[in-house]
Amino acid sequence: MCGIVGIVGRDAVAGQLVEALRRLEYRGYDSAGIATLTHGRLERRRAEGKLANLEARLRDEPLGGAIGIGHTRWATHGRPNETNAHPHATARLAVVHNGIIENFRELKAELQGLGVRFESETDTEVVAQLVSHAMDGGLGPVEAVAACLPRLHGAFALGMVFAGYDDLLIGARHGAPLAIGFGQMEAGIGETYLGSDALALAPFTEEITYLEEGDWAVLSRAGAEIRDIDGHPVTRQRQRIVAQAYRVEKGNHRHFMGKEIHEQPEVVGRTLAHYVDLANGRVALPADLPFDFATLSRLSITACGTAYYAGLVAKYWFETLARLPVEIDVASEARYREPPLDRDGLTLVISQSGETADTLASLRYAKAQGQHTLAVVNVPTSTIAREASAVVPTLAGAAPAPRTGVSKARDVLYLGRGTSYPMALEGALKLKEISYIHAEGYAAGELKHGPIALIDESVPVIVIAPHDAIFEKTVSNMQEVAARGGRIILIGDAKGAAAAGLETLATVTMPDCDPVVAPIVYAVPIQLIAYHTAVFMGKDVDQPRNLAKSVTVE
Ligand code: AGP
Repeated sequence: MCGIVGIVGRDAVAGQLVEALRRLEYRGYDSAGIATLTHGRLERRRAEGKLANLEARLRDEPLGGAIGIGHTRWATHGRPNETNAHPHATARLAVVHNGIIENFRELKAELQGLGVRFESETDTEVVAQLVSHAMDGGLGPVEAVAACLPRLHGAFALGMVFAGYDDLLIGARHGAPLAIGFGQMEAGIGETYLGSDALALAPFTEEITYLEEGDWAVLSRAGAEIRDIDGHPVTRQRQRIVAQAYRVEKGNHRHFMGKEIHEQPEVVGRTLAHYVDLANGRVALPADLPFDFATLSRLSITACGTAYYAGLVAKYWFETLARLPVEIDVASEARYREPPLDRDGLTLVISQSGETADTLASLRYAKAQGQHTLAVVNVPTSTIAREASAVVPTLAGAAPAPRTGVSKARDVLYLGRGTSYPMALEGALKLKEISYIHAEGYAAGELKHGPIALIDESVPVIVIAPHDAIFEKTVSNMQEVAARGGRIILIGDAKGAAAAGLETLATVTMPDCDPVVAPIVYAVPIQLIAYHTAVFMGKDVDQPRNLAKSVTVE
């Protein structure tokens, strides 16, 4: 979930590297760094924390050089300090890496046995040392990389530059996404780019190629030579980046999160207009779907985090409206449980980024079982979108309440029934994620089976309860909370608020809406409570600690 970038350019590249890293910061912001080559000499600047710290460092100690690599880190191995920041380097080369080298301990021990000294606690440094060691043995950079790649286990996307080679950048993809970008030729000299995603490269190029699993590429100003896992030269398709799809701005909003919350009516409207043929009362799915929903006997859904909760809502919809049995699992479990899946059945994967490693692995597992796969993604060029048999993009664009007294609470409970249950889970996740207040979401009926023990005056209980067929049941659960001194924040409609007849700490009155669309409408106050609580507490809602918005490791 780190972001990597590489540029073989015409002029100084440090500024471009930083610009690309800004677009990759959603992948992690524990540290950032760049390395460039000036007259063949490798130099790097690294800084702990967000990209702004690296920018400050570069203002004091600028870097020249028309070739370089950059990295923004989400720490996996080793603390988020400067020593562990990428690029990792030896006298011969510098490396940036996204992913995990799972056999780094064995490789490190082997190299240490040969007298190699390591500086950092990272898994990545073994790549730098391994390739360096191969070069010490007489191999050139390309041959050394070719010899070392098969020795690396795990998931990785790599970018490497080499001292003394100012027209050579090597990238490799194995389980983590990597794209190559092609710039304009001027006076016979081109520019070539490497990046974790097209978003990073969008300011510099309109034409990209996604590397496939096991590919590695040798980049120079003349272009890119791509080889497959066996070292054979291969041609991969070039695609145009749709610049519009990659515009990421806050507009008049203070935070990206606030912007995204307020954009939802437009995004939902745009997506529905795309897929619902209101004139004929039909859902207009892609014409070439390789399966027929009408003949399915069961649907499997897999996703992670918020996307999993969206899938839980979909389960209620498919089962109640279409009478189609649905099984749903978090992807990190599904991929290793290896559930039996019918040949020609359907697995639906949901992923905003389209790059989540566990979701991708579940998709591959389903394909290997002979299932059709349908991906609901927000990034139509993502790996999941490219590997699924069919794609339904959400058309949300690029992504990076009332004050309720929640900000002083140590714990918060969220309760809901039916489709409000996944919303309770999501409310708790969002609050944890951006305010760092401990929160739990429960099916309201489960309260009495354990979590009710948590309730006292200090625990706000947020109840999501539209006035639907099971509203009365939820009211009973609210009464159980009130009887124990719990402070209720009710998110419901006017009819429900009146019918509940309970004293609440606050009531968020929602407009009347059809119960089917309630989860979409009720998502908004849930997000706003988390957002305003976190902003009130002075937290960084767009870059919460320890998190990354694209999770490309297990
Ligand atoms: C991030 O804000 C979400 N809370 C997080 O759970 C996310 O939904 C999850 O990591 C899956 O990401 P994806 O939708 O990109 O696959």
